[in-house]
Amino acid sequence: MGRKKIALIGGGQIGGIMALLAAQREMGDVVLLDIPEKENVVKGKMLDLTETNPLFSSSSCLTGTKNYADLAGADVTITTAGLPRKPGMSREDLLNINLQIISEVATNLKKYCPDAFHIVVTNPLDSMVFAFMKVSGLPKHKIAGMAGVLDTARFRSFVGMELNVSPKDVSALVLGGHGPTMVPLARLATVGGIPLSELLPQEKIDAIVYRTREAGTEIVNLLGSGSAYFSPATSAIEMAEAYLKDQKRILTCAAYLNGEYGITGYYIGVPAIIGAGGVEKVLEVKLTDSEKAALNNSLEAVKKAVAETKL
Ligand code: APR
Repeated sequence: MGRKKIALIGGGQIGGIMALLAAQREMGDVVLLDIPEKENVVKGKMLDLTETNPLFSSSSCLTGTKNYADLAGADVTITTAGLPRKPGMSREDLLNINLQIISEVATNLKKYCPDAFHIVVTNPLDSMVFAFMKVSGLPKHKIAGMAGVLDTARFRSFVGMELNVSPKDVSALVLGGHGPTMVPLARLATVGGIPLSELLPQEKIDAIVYRTREAGTEIVNLLGSGSAYFSPATSAIEMAEAYLKDQKRILTCAAYLNGEYGITGYYIGVPAIIGAGGVEKVLEVKLTDSEKAALNNSLEAVKKAVAETKL
């Protein structure tokens, strides 16, 4: 059983941190790919990281490249390639640019890593993971979007902050698309096994739900330029590790639905078992009428975004 190979497409903020995490956890060898203009940047980042190996006692080989051929045989790929939204750029402009980038990435990954588990992080997430599936034509359960792990982690963090307890002991589930229509299922959240509703009044829970939905924007506003990177990077690596180590973890991610939750033909955030088979199973949870309505509302937003890709 040789070393695992992790291909990171997009060597920006998230890509760099994912390389660091993968090396620290000694998940395998890591190749970081970016556009030709950034070739030296990714080579520099990976050399810098290589020099941390003795300090972290890691043996991972870390390389930067502009050539997809160097990704050949990767076990897992994580795509963050894309442009961030700039002032004056409409959502449609961003979608069209990132759609082109994702199409190029998907075509190359199909060629060089057809057997890998592919994780898409580029925003707008719900339509980009759909586009990756359409363009690559790769098996739908071997492609997933990273959103739910992050949205859930945000919810758990806010609960921990509010109760002054470790977020490790907070369990929660956030369904739906990656955006303001997401559906944090506060009803099912527990803290050390105790229902959240027994520990916090409804208005505090509502405030946490609201903050979770807006958490990405809150960070964008604080940073001034760019978007969150530590938490998205850690979330995507969590998914990659579950696949590489066949952990059968239940992680919420944008998974392709085939009738689950009454939805067919779309990627949307649901709890899924991730193991060596990729997305091995989508878990269904009984929803209340209002939760169903909220999920449908989120699905409509996802459908609209997917329709804009014209795929
Ligand atoms: N091929 C490979 N890499 C590309 C391509 C391409 N065609 N086009 C752009 N990139 C690279 C950029 O050069 C840049 O280095 O993608 C990288 C993106 O990095 P950042 O701009 O730093 O963005 P980051 O914060 O990492 O976020 C990446 O993830 O969460 C989402 O909304 C976020 O869509 C964004 C993505």
